[in-house]
Amino acid sequence: KKTLCSFLQINRNMHQGNQTSISEFLLLGLSNETEKQNLLYVLFLGMYLVTVVGNGLIILAISLDSYLHTPMYLFLANLSFADISSISTSVPKMLMNIHTKRQSISYESCITQMYFSIVFVVIDNFLLGVMAYDRFVAICHPLNYTTIMQPRLCILLTIIPWVLSNIVALTHTLLLLELCFCDNNTLSHFFCDLASLLKLSCSDTMINELVLFIVGLSVITFPFALILFSYICIVRAVLIISSTEGKWKAFSTCASHLTVVLLFYGTIVGVYFFPSSTHPDDRDKIGAVLFTVVTPMMNPFIYSLRNKDIKGTLRKLINRKTSCL
Ligand SMILES: *[C@@H]1O[C@H](CO)[C@@H](O)[C@H](O)[C@H]1NC(C)=O
Repeated sequence: KKTLCSFLQINRNMHQGNQTSISEFLLLGLSNETEKQNLLYVLFLGMYLVTVVGNGLIILAISLDSYLHTPMYLFLANLSFADISSISTSVPKMLMNIHTKRQSISYESCITQMYFSIVFVVIDNFLLGVMAYDRFVAICHPLNYTTIMQPRLCILLTIIPWVLSNIVALTHTLLLLELCFCDNNTLSHFFCDLASLLKLSCSDTMINELVLFIVGLSVITFPFALILFSYICIVRAVLIISSTEGKWKAFSTCASHLTVVLLFYGTIVGVYFFPSSTHPDDRDKIGAVLFTVVTPMMNPFIYSLRNKDIKGTLRKLINRKTSCL
């Protein structure tokens, strides 16, 4: 591989002059104007803190209150954990680069960042599917809920997303490591995102793109099919309930989940399926911001603002803390 890469490099350098081998990448970020960068710094720092605190509170509330040790909340805690991790792969490095006015990221860090950004987005996706399945059992088979949702199954349903997402990320990373990077090391992005790295490579990326397409499509469609199937059953079950109050109760347990799902898939559809006048590079960046920053930030709001149990636990926690002082 080394000789192949240097052959490609020499081939290019015949036209372009100086010989470089890439040991680091440059992340151009979202803007190169100083004023806009300062604004982005404040904005992303704010979103980062909100995400970490919001999701942290959810994990805290769920782990401290044994009332909330039900499958639904344990999955939710897992989602919050994935959200904190997801935003932590990209935003702190971006903030540091703006702060120190440097754009570089080492080759190894770049690959690591790409690996974990894939892992956590894929986990998020699968957990949404798992949570839909949980609501499906709760509403469509309420009498069998406890027998179906055994602790063993719950643990399995949280481990599967982790295993699958690591397999996906490993596949992409191993394929990426086969590629050569020649003289251009500038990523017009705020983190090392797989698609931008592929664009930068001077090797043939046909196989990588094909794998990205196939894996990406199955990672999106499989959970989405699960969610769709669950919600069809849920809607049918809700329509059968005769009392308005019962209908509302059943619906409200799903409403928060449905909001997250719509946000998540709305983003995918909006960004990738409606190519508008925006430049493809900008579209990728907008998509990345929505996936890695906005969705993780919104999740706690959507759940805790609508959820009496979590609000109650947090209130109890705060009261206990203040009465101890
Ligand atoms: C994730 O879910 C598993 C089982 O469903 C649970 O044991 C674990 O505590 C959860 N993780 C977090 C961070 O809450």
